[in-house]
Amino acid sequence: MAALRKLTFAASLPLSGRWCSAAPAVFRCYSAAASGGDAKFPKNVIEHLNTSQEQQTNGVVYDKKPFRMELEEGKRYSWCLCGRSKAQPLCDGTHKLVQYKITQRPVRFQVEKNGTYWLCNCKQTKHRPFCDGTHKCEEVQKTSGK
Ligand code: FES
Repeated sequence: MAALRKLTFAASLPLSGRWCSAAPAVFRCYSAAASGGDAKFPKNVIEHLNTSQEQQTNGVVYDKKPFRMELEEGKRYSWCLCGRSKAQPLCDGTHKLVQYKITQRPVRFQVEKNGTYWLCNCKQTKHRPFCDGTHKCEEVQKTSGK
C-alpha cells in the first residue's frame, strides 16, 4: 500500500521547472541578521538529537518569503529542506523518491512554547527551520521560486 501511495504521489509531480533541477542552488549572500547581527531566532529544542541541522547543502527555493505557522510545544515537526515537498513548509517524503536524487533530509524540530513562528520557505536560512531574512537577498529574489 505504501509503495502504491509513493507511485501515485510521484506521478502527480510536475516534470518540468524547478522540480526537476537536480543540483541545489548555492547562495552566498545572507541578511545582516543572518550573518551575526543582534537578531534572536527561535530555538529548535531537539537540535542536539539529530544531525539534520548540519547538512552542508540547501534545497531549491520553494518560495521567496517565509510561512507563518502556529506550532505547539512538545510536538515534533519535520521541516522540508529540499524544497520539493507539496506540504510546505513541512516534509511530505518527496526527498525519498529515488528518481529525484535528492540528497537533503528534512530537519526535525520542536519549539520551546506554543506560538506563531515564521518558518523559512526559501530553504536558504542559516537558522533552520526558522526564517532569518536570507530570503531578502537579491540572489534568492531572482530565482524562479514562487
Ligand atoms: S524564507 Fe526567510 S530565510 Fe528563508
